[in-house]
Amino acid sequence: MLLLLHVLMLSLLSGGSAKVVKDFEKECGQFFANGKSPTRFPDPQYRQICQTLNDEVYYATFYNTSNRIPVYSAYKFEGIKNCTRIVKWYIEPQLDDNNASPNMKLEKDVKIQGLGDHQAINEDYKNSKYERGHLEPVFQAQSQGCADATFTLTNAAPQNSSFNRGQWRVLERNIAKNLSNQCPPNMYSFYIVTGVVPGTKIINNRVKVPSHFWTAYCCLDNNKKPHFSGGFIGVNENFPPEEKTVKDLETELAKLYKVESFEVFNYSTEPPAKKRK
Ligand SMILES: *[C@@H]1O[C@H](CO)[C@@H](O)[C@H](O)[C@H]1NC(C)=O
Ligand SMILES: *[C@@H]1O[C@H](CO)[C@@H](O)[C@H](O)[C@H]1NC(C)=O
Ligand SMILES: *[C@@H]1O[C@H](CO)[C@@H](O)[C@H](O)[C@H]1NC(C)=O
Ligand SMILES: *[C@@H]1O[C@H](CO)[C@@H](O)[C@H](O)[C@H]1NC(C)=O
Ligand SMILES: *[C@@H]1O[C@H](CO)[C@@H](O)[C@H](O)[C@H]1NC(C)=O
Repeated sequence: MLLLLHVLMLSLLSGGSAKVVKDFEKECGQFFANGKSPTRFPDPQYRQICQTLNDEVYYATFYNTSNRIPVYSAYKFEGIKNCTRIVKWYIEPQLDDNNASPNMKLEKDVKIQGLGDHQAINEDYKNSKYERGHLEPVFQAQSQGCADATFTLTNAAPQNSSFNRGQWRVLERNIAKNLSNQCPPNMYSFYIVTGVVPGTKIINNRVKVPSHFWTAYCCLDNNKKPHFSGGFIGVNENFPPEEKTVKDLETELAKLYKVESFEVFNYSTEPPAKKRK
């Protein structure tokens, strides 16, 4: 009886835990290298999301409600899993109603007044020239559930369709293919952060079109020391993204976001200097 009560209370407690959270480093820090999130801006329009589908948490997103696009999504990469693309786009109920479900939901299943006030909805992308470009891509998802959970509009931003299907897609695949052997999950942990920089265009008078897409990866060994890292940034058109060290990417992002500094990974991630004999 006592046990039953205990279980009931626990389930009530966890059922109430919001997925738009105050501190995603605390609530879903497992998706950040060393448990440290990239730079978070303090202004009130930002939200921290532990991306949850059917009560499983799959990755983390820092979201800008003013632009109705994310700033970045952070996730672990555990090798190429050949997940199926199931194209059903979700939204985040808690962005428009704190008391709503902690799970991402299909728009048709959400009855909230003012749905879309603080986030993009599918309608915004209709008749725009842009596609719903994934930040965390299906190709890098670590399970089918995770692949399904990447189809949420809080993990997407208006992307040039040639870029989405062209150079950016090639990059997502190359990172996964080239680097997974060099960072096997039994010896290392592989973290990726993918983000966008807001541009000047707006679709449907509501959703900002990014000027750039960027991505950075970091492979940590079992002592949490960086084994290797790197990054890419590309304008939102179909050109090959430019390769950069994480440091140089951070410097460029600080400029583009017009902030003093921007940190993707919370310590020096330059590959260790080669030892001289
Ligand atoms: C968030 O949106 C506001 C309003 O458009 C913009 O000024 C700001 O630069 C955005 N922040 C980021 C990090 O993209
Ligand atoms: C994914 O597909 C590739 C190519 O067909 C195959 O080599 C690999 O073993 C598959 N991986 C998994 C986890 O099924
Ligand atoms: C991956 O390999 C391809 C083909 O060898 C190469 O062109 C590309 O630059 C590599 N990309 C990354 C991200 O390492
Ligand atoms: C998308 O990129 C292509 C190739 O770079 C360019 O020709 C096209 O105008 C772009 N589309 C939009 C809507 O900006
Ligand atoms: C890591 O984050 C802390 C704050 O959590 C900050 O004070 C520190 O400067 C960061 N470390 C590096 C190497 O950037």
